Amino acid sequence: MADSSTAILRDIEAAMTGIEKTGRATMNVGTILEVGDGIARADGLSDAMASEVVDVIDNKGNVKAQGLVMNLEMMEVGLVLLDQETPVNEGDTVKTTGTVLSVPAGNGIIGRVVDALGRPIDGKGAVKKEKDMPIECVAPGVIARQPVSVPLQTGIRAIDALVPIGRGQRELIIGDRGVGKTTIAIDTIMNQKPGDVVCIYTAIGQRANKLAQLVQVLEEHNSLNHTIIVAATANDPASMQFLAPYAATAIGEYFMGLGKDVLLVYDDLSKHAWSYRQLSILLRRPSGREAYPGDVFYLHARLLERAARLSKDFGGGSMTALPIIETQASDVSAYIPTNVISITDGQIYLNPDLFYAGVRPAIDVGLSVSRVGGNAQIPAMKKVAGSLRLSLAQYRALEAFAQFASDLEKETKEQLDRGRRVTEILKQKQHELAPVEEQVAIIWAATQGYLDTVPVEKVLLAADAFLNALKTNKDKPLASLAKEKTLTDDIVSNLKSTIGSIIEEHQA
Ligand SMILES: Nc1ncnc2c1ncn2[C@@H]1O[C@H](COP(=O)(O)OP(=O)(O)O)[C@@H](O)[C@H]1O
Ligand SMILES: [Mg+2]
Repeated sequence: MADSSTAILRDIEAAMTGIEKTGRATMNVGTILEVGDGIARADGLSDAMASEVVDVIDNKGNVKAQGLVMNLEMMEVGLVLLDQETPVNEGDTVKTTGTVLSVPAGNGIIGRVVDALGRPIDGKGAVKKEKDMPIECVAPGVIARQPVSVPLQTGIRAIDALVPIGRGQRELIIGDRGVGKTTIAIDTIMNQKPGDVVCIYTAIGQRANKLAQLVQVLEEHNSLNHTIIVAATANDPASMQFLAPYAATAIGEYFMGLGKDVLLVYDDLSKHAWSYRQLSILLRRPSGREAYPGDVFYLHARLLERAARLSKDFGGGSMTALPIIETQASDVSAYIPTNVISITDGQIYLNPDLFYAGVRPAIDVGLSVSRVGGNAQIPAMKKVAGSLRLSLAQYRALEAFAQFASDLEKETKEQLDRGRRVTEILKQKQHELAPVEEQVAIIWAATQGYLDTVPVEKVLLAADAFLNALKTNKDKPLASLAKEKTLTDDIVSNLKSTIGSIIEEHQA
């Protein structure tokens, strides 16, 4: 009796050690049944796990390629092939590995361009790895998080004032093709300081020459030194485009785990959904609305859920996500746009009519929102942004009457004049970014009505002149505003005494 129970215990212990090592007791060896379009089917892998890496073995017993388990079916598994340099053939042997797919991360990856498996593609040599990060992982729970309260300044007045972004927030950038979505994301990266925020730009399904241009622009603006680019271009297989945002997020998690602040851009998730649709159709999954598989919502929800601001006990790091969605004919109610709108904490909607009318960035302030970032604004910005929002709302309500300007009441006319000037100061050229204290000063001048007598076409010139005068002012009002973060009486009287002469100069 005693003997048999010890034997059973021993058996259980033996089985448990196997599980500890591999996460599972047994390994499988199977055979490739079918290959094509970056997809393979294999049998004999009855214990394979979802997202597990499998090795494809050549006839010398070496690993010649790897695959990722996507479909678990009754008799077979569906695999996505990861490395297609060596062809995989029907009849090849496959083995489960007991590991999920991971990407290498470490400080050395900053400033580099890597592919969806973390391999450098910029020709600058190997990246020193400090840790392997699993590309899929469970998002931090509520206990591990703290509310968003630190701003992530974009340097773009319209965003920092009206749709402010906080560290750890998910803010969608949405709009048609060519309306400035990528520009906003890149400008936000350029506005970060090295050592403060680690930026990760994920290029999904873009043309390779466009990506090369983007890398060059970042380099020219000294911004590549705090940025990692994870790229799967249009030339790469759908599997790589599908994996890229998860890989980028895993790299971001490495830095967040070190207590750092991370900014992640996914450019764009529409193409990501396409790559997933392509894989799913090849894997013969049933398709639903717009031919996307049923779990396409989960695809993006589980990705964006990983953005977080961790509490002090968990290191205090954060990961801010700026997903981009490209709409067709401004249709924000299509399947993928509505999904991502519902997952994020707000959206910056770019309007093509504004863009072509020269209002750039073409942010539609009526349709853009930030549901959590307001808590992260500095008090001075919160104050001026309130008046700004009011002027703009009044202006929108009256805009339709603007053409009958001659018969309008005085008050209405004043609101229209104010609105035009406030809209003007929200225009900003690309890559010309401003620190928050400069933004506050300009918005203060416009919303207090100081620019009302300046002709609309001279408003931006006057704003520039105002800033220059403030910068050379011996009392350094901008520096004190940056320090105090609120509009103290001293600062306001300084701003007032500076603006007078500027207006006179620009009135005619
Ligand atoms: N604020 C801006 N001022 C001037 N030009 C801009 C501005 N934003 C974008 N552009 C220009 O508009 C074009 C399209 O921008 P891009 O960001 O590539 O659009 P999208 O990513 O939406 O397709 C680019 O040539 C870019 O230089
Ligand atoms: Mg773009």
